[in-house]
Amino acid sequence: MWQISGVLGAIMLYQLCYVSRAVTPLSYPELRALVAQARAYNAAHGITGILFYGEGNFAQVLEGEQAEVERLFDCIQHDARHYDVTVITRVTRPRRTYPQWGMAGHRLAEAQFAELVKYLPEEADAPPLEARLEAFVSKSEQL
Ligand SMILES: Cc1cc2nc3c(=O)[nH]c(=O)nc-3n(C[C@H](O)[C@H](O)[C@H](O)COP(=O)(O)O)c2cc1C
Repeated sequence: MWQISGVLGAIMLYQLCYVSRAVTPLSYPELRALVAQARAYNAAHGITGILFYGEGNFAQVLEGEQAEVERLFDCIQHDARHYDVTVITRVTRPRRTYPQWGMAGHRLAEAQFAELVKYLPEEADAPPLEARLEAFVSKSEQL
């Protein structure tokens, strides 16, 4: 961990956020399996972030070194479990929003997910992303 954070300390962090729709609704065990696999890969590639699932919809924030994030996003985009993959933001940030290694996973009710999506874009004087998403994390079921 110290090796990766040492390198990342010297560069800006790249953050990509997208939403997508599941081809078929995923069960709790399927979601858990997806997140477990993501955690293993992401931890090994210095990628952190958060994945939300709400009644057939995904929203994910990926952060790390730009090339690593884009390489992973290319795989994710081609994943047959979802479609309509729509990028909301591609930004650089001075530090990680989600510093825990891997990938947090949260399941939300449909109405909450619809509300969450409104808070994803980076508006000019909006609070930081983690503050905007905090309320949704606390209402969610952890994956
Ligand atoms: C919504 C969604 C989010 C995903 N997020 C990640 C992720 O953060 N990290 C990851 O390694 N795989 C993630 N995956 C899985 C990848 O798309 C892909 O299945 C995985 O990288 C294995 O690819 P491979 O079978 O070509 O090796 C996600 C899949 C979906 C549908």
